Amino acid sequence: MRYPVLTTVAAFAVAVGGALPVTGAPIFYNQLSAESQKCVECHQESTPVLDQQWGESRHHRGNVGCYECHGVNTDATNALDHNGFKIHVIVTPKDCSRCHERPYAEMENSHHAKAGEILGSLDNVLANVVEGNKKFYGKSALAVNGCLQCHGSEVRLKDGEPTVDTWPNDGIGRLNVDGSRGSCSSCHMRHTFSVAQARQPETCGRCHLGPDHPQKEIYETSRHGILYAANKDKMNMDSSKWVVGVDYWAAPTCATCHMSATKELPSTHDVGARISWNNRPSVSVRPEVTDAKLGLTDKPDWKQRRAAMKDVCQACHNEKYVSNFYEQYDGLIQLYNEKFGEPGEKLYGLLKDGGLITAQPFDEKIDWDWFLIWHHQGRQARHGASMMQPDYTHWHGLFEVAEVFYSEYIPEARELVAAGLKAGGTKAQAAGKVNAYLEELLNSDNHRWYIGKLSAEEKAADAKEREAFKARYAK
Ligand code: HEC
Ligand code: HEC
Ligand code: HEC
Ligand code: HEC
Ligand code: HEC
Ligand code: HEC
Ligand code: HEC
Ligand code: HEC
Repeated sequence: MRYPVLTTVAAFAVAVGGALPVTGAPIFYNQLSAESQKCVECHQESTPVLDQQWGESRHHRGNVGCYECHGVNTDATNALDHNGFKIHVIVTPKDCSRCHERPYAEMENSHHAKAGEILGSLDNVLANVVEGNKKFYGKSALAVNGCLQCHGSEVRLKDGEPTVDTWPNDGIGRLNVDGSRGSCSSCHMRHTFSVAQARQPETCGRCHLGPDHPQKEIYETSRHGILYAANKDKMNMDSSKWVVGVDYWAAPTCATCHMSATKELPSTHDVGARISWNNRPSVSVRPEVTDAKLGLTDKPDWKQRRAAMKDVCQACHNEKYVSNFYEQYDGLIQLYNEKFGEPGEKLYGLLKDGGLITAQPFDEKIDWDWFLIWHHQGRQARHGASMMQPDYTHWHGLFEVAEVFYSEYIPEARELVAAGLKAGGTKAQAAGKVNAYLEELLNSDNHRWYIGKLSAEEKAADAKEREAFKARYAK
């Protein structure tokens, strides 16, 4: 099964003939370096599968060998003495950037590169305190096996070898010893580093799944995902050039919408380049807000990003269809923000600031309920709407938001108010403040149904609809 060893001439022919749109002027070599030949000779025996994967890769065609990746940029901070060579085990985005400058620059200025900075987040309290402890080399074994596998560890080396608490790790925002961030092999698995594999939705679905960001499930059960499943073999995934509407048209994958080229747009390694909302916080915000917090600079505003995404959609849909979709989506975000996100956040803040609940997250039931509302169900509703999966928008989404909001969160807040009033002193004062807000909230248009304050006309209209429904479906 061994791959063919390239002769100088064959390699040159490939270099000239391969019109791959690799940016940043990748370096093709006419022949494999003497160093890499030595690596290969040994590694055919010691790690044959790894060698075979490399042999089938486009790097092999370009004579980019083991040494060109593991041997460059080696210095005192990362060197491992290895059979007469100085190498480094972890090949970082910076190492790849020598030949792929543009993907590197785009990725480094994206949310993906910042994903390792989750210390101090609420989720991190879960990892280190609530779910875990710090007994694995001073870290939480849960964080090491869980969070950091997706988000990225802060790599440490000892005598050139990565330490056990920080590696293996291929997290999307890994902090590398050379100062670069992330890991290109998060998406381009070694040692084939293939674009075809990176374009598969499964590649993104490794991290983008589950109760707090079910993008994979949403996609798979949306029409776009169904079309992909039905037409996998017509997607031309292996083609170097992959322009939607030109090189394929059967279905969009995650890469199509978020990264790959259109007739107008080049491909991008900044996955935020086409996103006009950030639906991760308790209240959705424009991406400019969170980009500024993370120090991401020189990025287009949300309108330009939306225009870029629309350009993708319009390879397959007409303009009206797409702009109507966006209005529907905005409507849902506004609904969630106004009805549940903003008031929920405000109520929680008042309870906390007033000392009616402790400052410690997750030690009281109401902490968990508010977390579920925005972090799980509220996101499902918003993500479902953004990628066209109505079940996530409704049953997993706003239905569950409403259920927890009205049957747990509000009743619990009322109990805390009652207890506070009883306690007297500053607690009673705080409770009075929360109570005033609850009154205002529950009397607002969005919520007054809950306290029996629908107007007579509204009640009559509801009753009429119910009658019509019965008349239609009753035998
Ligand atoms: C004399 C044989 C030999 C040569 C030459 C050689 N290797 Fe290795 N290498 C090995 C063996 C054996 C291992 C251990 C394999 C294992 O643990 O399964 C290894 C391990 C490695 C590792 C993992 C190291 C670690 O500690 O995690 C890397 C990376 C590596 N080699 C890269 C290279 C590169 C790059 C070259 C060429 C510059 C090279 N090797 C040359 C035999 C060799
Ligand atoms: C295009 C760059 C590139 C080339 C060429 C390359 N590697 Fe790697 N190699 C990587 C990356 C990236 C990793 C993943 C390190 C990490 O981030 O965890 C890696 C990891 C490894 C590892 C350790 C992890 C494991 O899976 O066991 C070994 C051993 C290794 N490479 C050996 C080789 C050998 C031998 C060759 C040549 C046949 C080679 N590499 C060619 C980029 C490269
Ligand atoms: C399966 C992979 C995976 C695991 C495990 C995981 N996350 Fe995440 N996390 C993600 C993804 C993907 C996103 C972005 C979701 C989106 O864009 O909708 C995210 C988002 C976040 C955010 C929000 C970032 C922002 O921009 O607002 C924080 C904070 C976070 N995760 C912390 C954690 C912590 C702490 C843990 C462990 C307790 C953890 N995550 C476990 C994949 C993961
Ligand atoms: C989030 C997943 C992801 C990460 C991380 C990622 N890539 Fe990619 N990469 C892709 C996808 C998807 C494509 C295919 C784009 C297309 O369809 O043209 C691609 C394409 C490429 C190409 C082919 C030419 C091009 O520019 O489209 C190169 C080269 C490349 N990536 C290098 C890198 C390097 C270097 C890194 C690390 C700095 C990296 N990639 C990180 C997903 C990723
Ligand atoms: C010494 C230069 C060099 C380095 C270093 C390098 N590459 Fe490449 N890369 C190339 C060349 C040349 C090609 C095109 C080969 C061809 O088309 O035959 C290529 C192609 C690619 C492709 C497209 C593969 C496909 O299926 O079309 C990806 C993805 C990629 N490289 C990722 C990486 C990643 C990730 C790293 C770092 C781990 C890296 N490269 C390091 C030179 C390099
Ligand atoms: C190794 C895990 C991992 C993989 C693989 C991954 N992502 Fe992500 N992604 C994340 C995390 C974590 C975040 C949240 C980063 C943050 O904001 O802190 C994120 C954020 C995003 C965002 C939001 C960007 C923004 O600016 O708000 C998009 C869009 C995205 N990813 C798309 C993709 C696509 C498309 C792929 C596959 C080609 C992919 N991701 C592969 C972990 C991953
Ligand atoms: C048909 C195009 C399309 C496909 C296919 C698609 N997305 Fe999206 N995605 C969108 C749109 C549109 C948005 C919302 C953009 C906005 O807010 O303006 C979005 C938003 C996102 C976000 C941002 C969520 C947040 O927290 O704000 C992530 C992450 C994401 N998608 C990941 C994925 C992943 C992973 C896949 C594949 C499993 C995928 N997308 C497939 C169009 C697509
Ligand atoms: C590669 C082509 C392609 C791309 C790109 C694409 N779509 Fe689609 N989309 C389709 C097809 C085909 C259907 C199924 C049409 C049908 O028969 O109802 C579809 C269905 C839809 C639906 C109907 C969903 C439902 O459940 O009824 C919406 C809404 C939609 N697309 C919006 C978008 C938006 C917004 C974008 C860009 C973010 C986009 N599409 C990108 C091909 C595409």
